[in-house]
Amino acid sequence: MELIKYLQERKKLIDEELDRYLPQPDEAPETLCEAMRYSVFAGGKRLRPILVMAAAEAVGKDKELVLPTACALEFIHTYSLIHDDLPAMDDDDLRRGKPTCHKVYGEAMAILAGDALLTRAFEVISKNREVPGVDDAAVVRVIQIVAHGAGCSGMVGGQVADLEAEGKTADKDTMLYIHANKTGALFKAALCAGAVLAGADEEAIAALERYGEQFGLAFQITDDILDVEGKTELIGKPVGSDTKNQKATYPSIYGLEKSYRMAEESVAQAVDALRNFSHKAEPLRQIARYLLTRSY
Ligand code: IPE
Ligand code: IPE
Ligand code: MG
Ligand code: MG
Ligand code: MG
Repeated sequence: MELIKYLQERKKLIDEELDRYLPQPDEAPETLCEAMRYSVFAGGKRLRPILVMAAAEAVGKDKELVLPTACALEFIHTYSLIHDDLPAMDDDDLRRGKPTCHKVYGEAMAILAGDALLTRAFEVISKNREVPGVDDAAVVRVIQIVAHGAGCSGMVGGQVADLEAEGKTADKDTMLYIHANKTGALFKAALCAGAVLAGADEEAIAALERYGEQFGLAFQITDDILDVEGKTELIGKPVGSDTKNQKATYPSIYGLEKSYRMAEESVAQAVDALRNFSHKAEPLRQIARYLLTRSY
């Protein structure tokens, strides 16, 4: 399997689906719909939707079974980026290689575009029940999983802790809490959602959940490293944003080298969580390892 090609193909498929599930450009209110589409299509690796599909495939089901939910995870992620970039939060001007949503549409519209993407996500998950082979109970469970991962016990909770830790030296537990929640929770929800829709047994769901947790942690540690060592042209966002905001990050606490080793350890644990899975989990294994070499 050639990972780069795999990721490109999956991204293309997801981009087509995202287009279907977003309001069309001429829909009212036009500025809002334009702003939503602007941020979703500014770029992005589409890792969360790719992982929803890969989780379903790891338990032997078709990726087509989970496409609406895969798109929903990207909507929630994009909303989180729009709000994360606002002046009240990280105050960044560049995202996915383009001016941030609030720079183009103003703060109020950016807040509302984020709100609309978040609510759209749940509308789209509910459409997953129309896909043949998916049962209603699974969709209801997925709504719960995704809401939990995105809300105060997950991503939003982590963002709060991230803001509250600005300018302070976070201890080990606080640091882990921030990363596990602001980033890990949505990855975990993506993996779990894919597995549940695919009708996986509880043991497989729990294993994919563990993979998602460790993947998310490794992902945010490498994001922190890229904030120090990355290139703006590649990451599509301002290098040094964390330093500017005096964020609690892995490199600020542990240094770059130890942070990298901690990311390696999380990747190893993510891969280990899949030990009882067949070759069908190979994409998940490879995507986890790729985190350690990514440049964006
Ligand atoms: C950026 O996520 C925000 C974090 C959680 C670190 P990604 O690096 O997945 O952003 P896109 O979707 O590719 O732009
Ligand atoms: C963001 O973490 C996590 C989110 C929930 C958006 P960061 O603030 O480090 O993400 P980037 O670096 O701006 O993408
Ligand atoms: Mg942030
Ligand atoms: Mg940020
Ligand atoms: Mg960052």
